[in-house]
Amino acid sequence: MIIRRLGSTGPTVSALGLGCMGMSDLYGPADRGESIATIRAAMDAGVTLLDTGDFYGMGHNELLIRDALRGRDRGRAVLSVKFGALRDPAGAWAGIDGRPEAVRSFLAYTLRRLGTDHVDVYRLTRVDPRVPIEETVGAIADMVRAGYVRHVGLSEAGADTIRRAATVHPISDLQIEYSLLSRGVEDQVLPACRALGIGVTAYGVLSRGLLGGHWTRDRELAAGDFRSSSPRFSGANLEHNMALVDALAEVAAARGATVAQIGIAWVLSRGDDIVPLVGARRRERLDEALGAMRVTLSPDDLAAIERAVPAGAAAGSRYAEPLMAELDSERSAAGAA
Ligand SMILES: NC(=O)c1ccc[n+]([C@@H]2O[C@H](COP(=O)([O-])OP(=O)(O)OC[C@H]3O[C@@H](n4cnc5c(N)ncnc54)[C@H](OP(=O)(O)O)[C@@H]3O)[C@@H](O)[C@H]2O)c1
Repeated sequence: MIIRRLGSTGPTVSALGLGCMGMSDLYGPADRGESIATIRAAMDAGVTLLDTGDFYGMGHNELLIRDALRGRDRGRAVLSVKFGALRDPAGAWAGIDGRPEAVRSFLAYTLRRLGTDHVDVYRLTRVDPRVPIEETVGAIADMVRAGYVRHVGLSEAGADTIRRAATVHPISDLQIEYSLLSRGVEDQVLPACRALGIGVTAYGVLSRGLLGGHWTRDRELAAGDFRSSSPRFSGANLEHNMALVDALAEVAAARGATVAQIGIAWVLSRGDDIVPLVGARRRERLDEALGAMRVTLSPDDLAAIERAVPAGAAAGSRYAEPLMAELDSERSAAGAA
């Protein structure tokens, strides 16, 4: 397993992280036994970075990770946890809470659910517009000093917010969407991170499955599947985007790799300070994703990929309009894809 460091102050992690969200939420039903087997298989393969959120399945995802880690060396896992998303009993999203007192309470529940005495990287999932980022980060920094958290991260923050946050406490990494289809981070966010020695954990590397190579135009989505309201998966946008995937599939075939492997390898090639998270929910998908570590892209490969999927080629924004409005990263970089 290739190892990368999250920023100049963060933990050393596997160059590929496992995003566990889809095992509990947002992508339709998942098989519990297979989810646990996938987490264990990832760790057996040398994956150390496990990403979750306390709101993924409203605690379900953390309990799943606890069960997957039972009997294993806790020290080998780097647990990255997001907090702050509010939900109602029916599961509907109900805003963001980044207040210091909320930080402490969210963390208390997370530690109990995960069955651990510390979280490795703790981050607010969306910047709370009512709470200055300095206050939220300051509260996490207090938890670092108290020993409950090892590193402070950010999620979907824009360049200005990143700079403000970094004045309060060293930031290990920003978690943000980054893929061949979502390259908005390249303009302002990535340079800001690099200037401050902050790493990036990239999510949506397979564009929520669109770049996975297993998507079909007629796929039926379960109720509550995020993609049923995602602009990139609807109507003419989906047709356009699938044509990009078809073009990428030709590049992948010529390279003896799968589309997913090319998508992951491309993100890996963007810099040693970037760690892609993949949302594998089954061992089969995990194996495919791990295969990307063996794909080294030459300048010719990168040029062919760029021709197949040029920057800004995706049709549709990466979230539906109300969710886009919650992204500090998009406010700071208007027009970013
Ligand atoms: N900070 C944030 O705001 C934020 C937002 C979203 C996600 N995240 C984190 O990032 C992680 C990854 O995000 P994501 O799941 O949306 O992104 P993703 O990895 O782009 O997409 C996962 C989807 O890709 C499909 N897929 C196809 N081939 C695959 C392969 N070889 N390996 C893995 N997946 C493959 C999966 O399909 P099947 O399920 O059908 O196999 C799954 O539906 C999440 O689990 C979560 O931890 C963070």
